[in-house]
Amino acid sequence: MSGMADLAGIGRDTRRGGYSRHGFDRAEHEMRSWFFEQSTLHGLDVYTDRNGNMWAWWGRPGPDAVVTGSHLDSVPGGGAFDGPLGVTSALDAVAALRAKGFQPGRPLAVVVFAEEEGGRFGVPCLGSRLLTGAIDPDRARNLTDPDGITLAEAARAAGIDPAHLGPDPILDNIGCFVELHVEQGRTLGDRPIGIASSILAHGRWRFTVTGEGNHAGTTEVADRHDPMLPAATAVLAARQAIAGTSSRATIGRLVPNPGGTNVIASSVDFWLDARGDDARPVVEAVTSAVGAAADAEGCVLTVREESYGDAVRFDAALRDRIQGLLAGVPAIPTGAGHDAGILAARIPTALLFVRNPTGISHAPAEHAEPADCAAGTQALADVLEELCR
Ligand code: GLV
Ligand code: MN
Ligand code: MN
Repeated sequence: MSGMADLAGIGRDTRRGGYSRHGFDRAEHEMRSWFFEQSTLHGLDVYTDRNGNMWAWWGRPGPDAVVTGSHLDSVPGGGAFDGPLGVTSALDAVAALRAKGFQPGRPLAVVVFAEEEGGRFGVPCLGSRLLTGAIDPDRARNLTDPDGITLAEAARAAGIDPAHLGPDPILDNIGCFVELHVEQGRTLGDRPIGIASSILAHGRWRFTVTGEGNHAGTTEVADRHDPMLPAATAVLAARQAIAGTSSRATIGRLVPNPGGTNVIASSVDFWLDARGDDARPVVEAVTSAVGAAADAEGCVLTVREESYGDAVRFDAALRDRIQGLLAGVPAIPTGAGHDAGILAARIPTALLFVRNPTGISHAPAEHAEPADCAAGTQALADVLEELCR
């Protein structure tokens, strides 16, 4: 857990609370520097790949490697554990294996994936999507952050040549990937450790409603073309679309333009995060409700898909093997996205969970008890030892 203490002061968000650490920003850079130093202290050889993912190798990189790790970026105003716990536990597990004199029979690496939350450039799991070819590099290069900086520009400033973003042959050397993560719900209940069975399909859609900017005091109701009305419809339609289902629909980001108290907005952008066995029916329902509200208000709606990932079922053989080793830890589904979910399309992958007593995540109150984190690290060390024999 000392790693978590080291990271506690980096990227604190004094306005929102919690942490804001986004791809290639200053806070994430400090997190990465910490990872570089710690990995070196642990005797690992660190290398940054063409997509900004960092790999710390125990032994020479080679075929059939066992890889563990997670991410160091956060959502805006996020918790301390989502991502960093998987990285610090991985380094602690390596230290524990070294301390007992274990010599891996297969190459072992700890990885830090770039921009997992998509908090800056909008596409989640960007580093693992690029690595596996799940996003077109040209599209990725042109993604922009809220200040209009492209991923290509941010990557170049971080010392990564944007021309080389894209699928990486390093993937051919990975035999399996195991990520440890704080649970982001309360399904584990009184059990400290679990393993994921599946992840919901997940996508993000950007809605833009264009109306007519005007004066808040002088514009009669009949003359208004206020894009905030269709936006309000969207929030209600999202909730209605998931009522009584196991799907999820969230509008957590809404940006009116120009954003003045005494100004009828000329346009508004908002983002729908939808998840389910299939997330698309929810999006269709919301789009249709917002389209009707936009017509009624004399506004124009455009909708753009920013990311989509099908539902994930983790490799059953790897999960069985880990459950056998860890005294039958429970297998549970999750609605949260992970780099492990992206890698699962290409290689055997497993996702270990550490209990979250309140279930709160993506918020400053996210928590895991030290004893549960220690149990997670021990479980990860046992799994790595077994897989690397
Ligand atoms: C990432 O944690 C997500 O599920 O959005
Ligand atoms: Mn997250
Ligand atoms: Mn995460």
